[in-house]
Formats: sequence, structure tokens, C-alpha cells
Amino acid sequence: MAGERVADEVDEALPFEESTSDILAAWRVYGVAAGHSPRTIDSRRGTVERLAREHDVRTDRSILDAMHGAATGGHTGYASVPGIPALRDAIAARVTERTGVPTRRENVLITPGGQAALFATHTAVCNPGDTALMIDPYYATYPGTIRGVSALPHAIAARAEDAFQPRADVIAAAAKQTNAASLLVNSPNNPTGVVYSRKTLEGIAQVCRDHDMWLISDEVYDTQVWEGAHLSPCALDGMAEHTLVVGSMSKSHAMTGSRCGWIVGPVDAIEHLTNLATHTTYGVPGYIQDAALFALNQGTGFETEIAAPFQRRRLLAQDILARQNAVSLVPAQGAMCLLKNARCVASLAGAPKRPTIMPPIISIRDAMLSSGSKTFSARLMRCAAMSLRRAARGFSFKKPVR
Ligand SMILES: Cc1ncc(COP(=O)(O)O)c(C=O)c1O
Repeated sequence: MAGERVADEVDEALPFEESTSDILAAWRVYGVAAGHSPRTIDSRRGTVERLAREHDVRTDRSILDAMHGAATGGHTGYASVPGIPALRDAIAARVTERTGVPTRRENVLITPGGQAALFATHTAVCNPGDTALMIDPYYATYPGTIRGVSALPHAIAARAEDAFQPRADVIAAAAKQTNAASLLVNSPNNPTGVVYSRKTLEGIAQVCRDHDMWLISDEVYDTQVWEGAHLSPCALDGMAEHTLVVGSMSKSHAMTGSRCGWIVGPVDAIEHLTNLATHTTYGVPGYIQDAALFALNQGTGFETEIAAPFQRRRLLAQDILARQNAVSLVPAQGAMCLLKNARCVASLAGAPKRPTIMPPIISIRDAMLSSGSKTFSARLMRCAAMSLRRAARGFSFKKPVR
């Protein structure tokens, strides 16, 4: 009875009861995001600092110098709304090289960060009242972003049994049931750390083509792949015309505060999105774009250097957790997070069986690591113990979103 199982899963995947008239709720984006931030361990207890997934690698001095030079050199007026040509060209070249999809300047819009790109893409493809699909677990702002454009977020569970790879048949059933306008995916994924396989992405691409549905592909972690390879779905057969790729300098170049991201998509979609940008953000400051261009020109070696601390911490955390048998980790193939599975312990305590989130790798500072793995190990184990207690009480990282 495979059909019934799929239907059940679709029903389970409807956590949001929406009222488009609830304008206040629709815009409570930041509050919701803050509510989702992993305040897993209270800093007053001396374990791990509070954080909101901030990159703890600071922007490189050479990038700041480029920014300063551009600003003092006069690039402080209005910049071209779709982005300065040289930066659009650089991103187009990068996408062509990585995906094999011929990409030019006209396919690229520069945005104030990946978040603005998520908002703009949903504004562009969803009419008020349309359903926008997204995969659960999801990045904190997704439901608020979708609500913010008066669309209805519909979460589809990626399950632990499937190694958190979303299932095409479940997505197809949801697309059919809701006549969804779009599907938002994120690989490498925050918070699971999973990198979607070619099979998963081909299944997703097929559903998008079959249902004439836009795919919004959030690839802000594309330079943080620890196992396997990143595949952008825009590279799959017929998908360049169906996909809006969201990218960002935040994670790849440790430029979170600079607010520089982009959307890559079909030329006519980028023209519409440029109109939208003209009436909303009016572009990104020129000196920030110059700095982003400088950063991109440093090449992939620079990106590998920025990613290295997260890779190192991931290995360390995996190693430590492997030496106890209370929790297991969902294999983190990419991004800055680790998701731990406390199922066996939680079920022993009679709590609902669900994976829980552990402090992202970014919360564990290099300073701590260099203070000796014994201390680090003790601290990490305290984190794990606290999360387990929460799991046993039925704590869920997924709060109801209202
Ligand atoms: C999955 C995901 N998408 C988008 C963003 C937003 O990134 P940006 O800083 O470019 O707005 C984040 C930030 O943490 C993220 O984790």
C-alpha cells in the first residue's frame, strides 16, 4: 500500500495552519528565526556560548582592505541595481565552471545576502495564497520568508530512515495535493549537514518538471562539502529553466555582515527580479560588491582555507561521539552543523522518537580546541548530556511557527 503511506506522510507534513490575513504573524520572521536559533546550552552554565549560527571566522583583512579602498576611492554612490558588471561576470563564470551550464551576466542578480535572495525568489514565483514547498528540517527563516510573501509554507519531512534525503514520491504527492508553485531545497543542508545525492536531486528535478514547479535551490554552503560532491540541480536535464539558485558570500568567504549574495536563473526571471530589486533594495553598496569581487578572485584555495576549521571541528566531534554509545551522529557531509540522533536514549525514557540538534560546529571555538581535547571532550559530553535530558522530556528543536 505504498500510495497510502505516501498520503500519510503528506498529511504528517502539514504543520502549518495558515491565515494569509494574519499579517503580523507573517512578518514575525526575525522572532521566529531567533526562536529557532540553537540556544542549546546556556552560556551562564559555562558550557557553550549562545549563538545564531554566526560564522566565527572573521572577514579576511585583505577583503576589508579592498572594501576600504573601494569606499575611499569613491564607490559610495548608487551602484547598478542588478549588480556591478564585473561581479555578475565573476559569478556567472563560477557557475559555468562548477555546473557546466553556460551562464552569463544576464543570468545573475546581486542581492543583499542569501536571505534577501530567498525572499525575492519566493516573491517572484509565488502569488498570494500559493503553496511553497520546503524540506523539513529546514533553515530557521524559511517559513517566515514564505509567509512574508503571503504564500503558504508546506513542509515535507526528510526522514532519518532515508538519511535525510527527501523522497521524490512524497514531494510529488504534496505538489499534486497543493498545486504548489515552488519547492525550496538546501544542499549542503542546514541543519542536517546532509549533501543531497544525484539520485535525490534527479528525483526532485523530475517532480519540478512534471508539475511545472519552480525549484529554489539554496546553495549557500556549496563550498563546505566534506564528503561527496556538491551538485547544483540547475545542471540537471532541462533544469536551468526551472531553477533559481541562491548563493552568498557569507559562508564561503566569511562575509556574513557584508550582506552580499546572488540569484542565478533564466534571463527573463532575472529581469523580473531586477525590477523587484529596483523597488525594494535598490541594489547592494558598490564598495561591498568590489570587496566581494576581490574575495572571489582569491580563488578556491581561499575558500578551502575558510572552510577548514569547520571540517576540523566536525572530525573532532565525530571522533569524540564515536567513543560513547548514547547518541549517534547523522553523517555530516557538509555545512557547519551536526545533527545527533538521540533516538535510542529518548525511546528508553519514553519520549517521542526524533533526532535532536546539537550545537553547530561553529559554536565550538578554536580556542577551546587548542585548550586540549580533554577539556573539549568534557564540554562536548556535557552538551550531549543536556540535549539528551531535553530529548527525554520530549524537547523538540522544531517549535510551532505562528
Ligand atoms: C541554509 C541557509 N540559507 C540562507 C542563509 C542566509 O545567508 P546570508 O547570510 O547570505 O543571508 C543561511 C544563513 O545562515 C543559511 O543557513
